[in-house]
Amino acid sequence: MSLNPRTPNRSLDFGVLFGTSGNHLAGWRLPASSGGGNAGAELDVSEAVRLAKQYERAGLTAIFVADVVSVWGEHLDSLSRTTRASYFEPITLLSALASVTERIGLVATATTSYNEPYTIARKFASLDHISGGRAGWNVVTSVVPLEAANFGRDAHYGHEERYARAAEFVAAVTGLWDSVADDAFPRDKGSDIYLDRVGRRPLNYRGEHVATAGPLNISRPPQGHPVIFQAGASETGRAFAARVGEVIFAAPRSVAEARAYRTALDAALGAAGRAPGDVRVWPGVSPIVASTHAEAERRRDELNDLLHEDVLRRVIQDNVGDVDFSGFDLDAPLPELPESNRSRSRAASIIALARDEGLTLRELAVRWAGGGIVGTPEEIADHIEQWFDVGVADGFNLSFPYLPGAADAFVEQVLPELQRRGLWRPHYGATLRETIGLPRPDLTIADFGAEANATVPA
Ligand SMILES: Cc1cc2nc3c(=O)[nH]c(=O)nc-3n(C[C@H](O)[C@H](O)[C@H](O)COP(=O)(O)O)c2cc1C
Repeated sequence: MSLNPRTPNRSLDFGVLFGTSGNHLAGWRLPASSGGGNAGAELDVSEAVRLAKQYERAGLTAIFVADVVSVWGEHLDSLSRTTRASYFEPITLLSALASVTERIGLVATATTSYNEPYTIARKFASLDHISGGRAGWNVVTSVVPLEAANFGRDAHYGHEERYARAAEFVAAVTGLWDSVADDAFPRDKGSDIYLDRVGRRPLNYRGEHVATAGPLNISRPPQGHPVIFQAGASETGRAFAARVGEVIFAAPRSVAEARAYRTALDAALGAAGRAPGDVRVWPGVSPIVASTHAEAERRRDELNDLLHEDVLRRVIQDNVGDVDFSGFDLDAPLPELPESNRSRSRAASIIALARDEGLTLRELAVRWAGGGIVGTPEEIADHIEQWFDVGVADGFNLSFPYLPGAADAFVEQVLPELQRRGLWRPHYGATLRETIGLPRPDLTIADFGAEANATVPA
């Protein structure tokens, strides 16, 4: 089916960054006559249900809910003009969507910086059971400085420290999932054995940053482990992604950048004792589709014209660092900036974009906030086909700039075109792991070996 040398004969996969009012910062303002929707949609559960069902009917692989544990932006002048001060907690939202869908994957973001492993292992195991094996965990380390203060810290962890904590955190969570064997619960009325006592084992994980005893208080997730998503892109982040990630979100700006990223990721995978085929890489695509290229450009311009200057000024500041942009001339080039403790790779990418193309702050902000590719269904399909076939993408993470129009256009016009080209077909396995073609980490009582006979604390 595909020319992609890494995943021969596989269809590409599509995640969709879930939102109900569009991911362009001004998407919520687009009038319904231009494909926008209800301005109050960000907490509209019936709209979330409608979209989830639409994506599942279309055959998309997974819904992905991003998250930060604070309002998403520090400056009221900008925040007050976006939907980023009000959004659902991801696992709660996905638990609701699990009960109205049957096959689509449900990927929630949870930070390792402001959680505890036991809570996360338990919640994702629960979501995996509730959804019949469709849960995924997007492991992040947090990038918004406001998050720290919400959890009693004066400042966010430094870049290296938060990745060190993340590595321990993931080891503890997977250890907790593995503290209960797949066959630990015979639930046998005749023999009066609900839980086989040798089917659980203590974990007693003690790291420098996190500690947890275990075992977990829920039977092993249907997938063994919910699928691990990760988006590390700095050197440290990439090494972490290569150790723990199964699906890797990437944000390269061009095929050349995507190739460089993939080469570096392959090396990091090798260093972690894993093979390139052990992971799937999903770059982002934010499509604006119309029947002519000019019409798609007009729609993009219409959206960008809705971005207030305060939003433009802060969107770059919020991503690149700790400088107050309020006095900056939007029509001047991007100034020199200190290194950021936010997403280093994102800051580097934004700065590189400005320098490479000689953009003013306004132009840069419009590109960053607006982003996306514009074109006819054929042009969008060409982009996807190119990235897939040169082996830099096994799938894509879709982000619809406005709703419902951008999603409708993609589902109704681009997916059929991809299917005609033999690049994509709707495909669902029994679990999210199966849908993506990832192996299940089986674990039975027999695998516990000598530990099975150890005394297991209550
Ligand atoms: C598609 C995508 C989605 C992301 N979602 C989130 C998110 O929901 N919450 C978050 O704190 N960070 C999110 N990130 C940021 C990553 O966690 C990470 O900080 C970033 O990719 C760069 O990592 P670095 O620290 O290695 O530079 C996302 C990144 C990408 C590419």
